[in-house]
Amino acid sequence: MSKLDKEIQSSLTDIERSKNLLELESIRIKYFGKNGIINSEMRKLSTLSIEEKKEAGKKLNNFKEVFNNKVLQKKVFFESEEINQKIKNEFLDPTLPIRSNLGVIDEGKVHLITQTIEEIVSILGKMGLSFQEGPDIEDDFHNFTALNIPKDHPARQMHDTFYIQNTGKTENVLRTHTSPVQIRSMKKGEIPLKIFAPGRTYRCDSDITHTPMFHQVEGLVVDKNINFANLKWFITNFCKIFFKNEELKLRFRPSFFPFTEPSAEVDVNCTHEKGKVILGKGTDWMEIMGCGMVHPNVFKASGFLDNITGFAFGMGIERLAMLKYGASDLRDFFNNDIRWLKHFGFSYLNLPDLNWD
Ligand code: DAH
Repeated sequence: MSKLDKEIQSSLTDIERSKNLLELESIRIKYFGKNGIINSEMRKLSTLSIEEKKEAGKKLNNFKEVFNNKVLQKKVFFESEEINQKIKNEFLDPTLPIRSNLGVIDEGKVHLITQTIEEIVSILGKMGLSFQEGPDIEDDFHNFTALNIPKDHPARQMHDTFYIQNTGKTENVLRTHTSPVQIRSMKKGEIPLKIFAPGRTYRCDSDITHTPMFHQVEGLVVDKNINFANLKWFITNFCKIFFKNEELKLRFRPSFFPFTEPSAEVDVNCTHEKGKVILGKGTDWMEIMGCGMVHPNVFKASGFLDNITGFAFGMGIERLAMLKYGASDLRDFFNNDIRWLKHFGFSYLNLPDLNWD
């Protein structure tokens, strides 16, 4: 075995036995460094005959390739071992607040709509209603018919509906309101029924006060002897807590919804100052939601035949958020302009504070 062959052998064993990246590097230098075997063999090439040169050159190149591959393999092995060790030993808590003294790092914000939904969830939850969800893709029955909006009823025109291509017996739509969750909850047939259902709703409409997707929250309380006074008490308290204003005045203005009778729209008092709406002051009125006593046809469609009554209400969450926090253009909610998000966003540790016990 020539000297080179021996070196090749021992270099590969050296690599095999190395215990870390540092040792591996010193092995690389030992063989490939300025004074390593490769260099000294390269220098010798000039003294050889052409034939010998060819032979030795080939061998050296081969060695280089095998050696480099082996070193690379071992390096990848050590590096992944190091990472695995780190994963095992180090613990990263992504929920820790960032160190704001670093200044340059931007903190992520909770979207205004998320914050508002969380506030509503906290309040309605504390007022005794339980959280319910329904599908965004609804069938005609739950979105319209069961809510006393039969086919060809003019009230269907109040909803600019997105229809989904008909695949079966039922016609599907993107729900135009959260009211279908009323039907889904009532179909369980249990009283007392006290639920609220926040979620996305869709209408084929887009301008300064409409976006094709927006959010609503629906409320429903069904039991024996629920009356309009209960509804007034509930909505009044909800609004005072939500807007953090004990002085807020409410007006229940007669209105029409097919699924309630009697129906009302709820206004809160306000005044306009320098182009801004100030709630709870002044003698103007601002509409904030619809409500009423559940229509007997809605009970019938849900299979409730007992002697029961109930109240329901529905409100637009963006509208509530705009009034409470002063955002003026509905479309901004979904434009994802980072300046708007920063201005109207909330710190994720800023839990809804509800000092109202
Ligand atoms: N679903 C109605 C809408 O989208 C809102 C509404 C009004 C819901 C009155 C109700 C209600 O439950 O009682 O415009």
